Amino acid sequence: MKAVIRLQLMLIGVYSVKLSCDGREDGAQCYGALGGAVDLMLVDNVSEIPRFNWRKNSSTILRWRNSTVYNTKESRFLFFPSNGTVRISNLIRTDSGEYKLELNDKDGKKTGRRTLQLYVQAPMSSVQLVSECLSQGQMKVSCLSEGGDSPQYSWTLDGHILTDSELLSRNYENNIIVLRQNISGHLICSVTNQVSYSFNQMNISGCGLSHLLILGLRATVVILPLTGMSLYFTWRRKKCEKADDSAVSQIIEDLDNSVLMIEMKSPTQ
Ligand SMILES: *[C@@H]1O[C@H](CO)[C@@H](O)[C@H](O)[C@H]1NC(C)=O
Ligand SMILES: *[C@@H]1O[C@H](CO)[C@@H](O)[C@H](O)[C@H]1NC(C)=O
Ligand SMILES: *[C@@H]1O[C@H](CO)[C@@H](O)[C@H](O)[C@H]1NC(C)=O
Ligand SMILES: *[C@@H]1O[C@H](CO)[C@@H](O)[C@H](O)[C@H]1NC(C)=O
Ligand SMILES: *[C@@H]1O[C@H](CO)[C@@H](O)[C@H](O)[C@H]1NC(C)=O
Ligand SMILES: *[C@@H]1O[C@H](CO)[C@@H](O)[C@H](O)[C@H]1NC(C)=O
Repeated sequence: MKAVIRLQLMLIGVYSVKLSCDGREDGAQCYGALGGAVDLMLVDNVSEIPRFNWRKNSSTILRWRNSTVYNTKESRFLFFPSNGTVRISNLIRTDSGEYKLELNDKDGKKTGRRTLQLYVQAPMSSVQLVSECLSQGQMKVSCLSEGGDSPQYSWTLDGHILTDSELLSRNYENNIIVLRQNISGHLICSVTNQVSYSFNQMNISGCGLSHLLILGLRATVVILPLTGMSLYFTWRRKKCEKADDSAVSQIIEDLDNSVLMIEMKSPTQ
């Protein structure tokens, strides 16, 4: 018997972080969601800048001359002179990389230069929580998310981070935890990366005695008719052999023990 108890799953949602990034500092690190858009602020007041070039891998994307922007690349790159921001839409993986801004004066002399690094990540998908009672009454909970780059998992129980008195162990990725006996409450698993977050929650009531009893009861429902039958036949045989009553009660005791053994063993299988 596989003693897996699946609690009710409830999809809460996947959220994309509103992505804008300040690229006015040299070496800025910016993140965009695959398929989404990102706003990168390049300059403070572009009307004060006679010329600039914005490049990636030595190919020019935007050129600013005489208060006019020239887009030499795809229409996915859109520059707003009003706030010096470039928006990249429908992000693809190859948009990741280093972008270079070169500022020039009227005569084309270089007056400044800065780079920004863009990372395009796939957003997290929805999250599933699956719980399972272990033989000693601990509860193993797995937080499962499909897709999404660089997921970071975190857990809370009734709004606080899991403490050592609640948490028995966790795996390296932190997406599978084992809770100690009798832990109950409102459990949330959150999965985040730089561009999105997703979470799911469940109410857990522990894997204490009551769960083991339920498992035992299930075993008993199957075992009892069998033990009843074997008991009857054993008793018949014993009766024929004219055995005394104590032999029968001994058999009953043995059978009780075997039911109890199955109760204790069933969750591990
Ligand atoms: C931008 O620069 C122009 C020209 O120097 C100036 O007139 C304008 O007030 C500046 N705008 C802001 C928002 O600083
Ligand atoms: C961009 O430059 C890097 C390193 O200089 C190179 O490996 C890569 O192939 C280039 N990508 C494109 C699209 O040209
Ligand atoms: C820049 O714009 C001004 C006014 O719109 C115009 O007189 C001038 O010829 C332009 N210069 C260039 C190089 O396009
Ligand atoms: C810049 O301006 C555009 C167009 O008005 C706007 O959609 C965008 O949100 C602005 N970005 C920032 C960072 O202010
Ligand atoms: C779990 O709860 C049951 C019933 O409330 C109690 O008998 C048992 O001692 C508890 N176990 C632990 C490890 O706290
Ligand atoms: C958990 O329990 C609370 C209070 O009993 C209830 O309001 C909430 O809907 C439950 N949540 C789930 C995911 O079952």
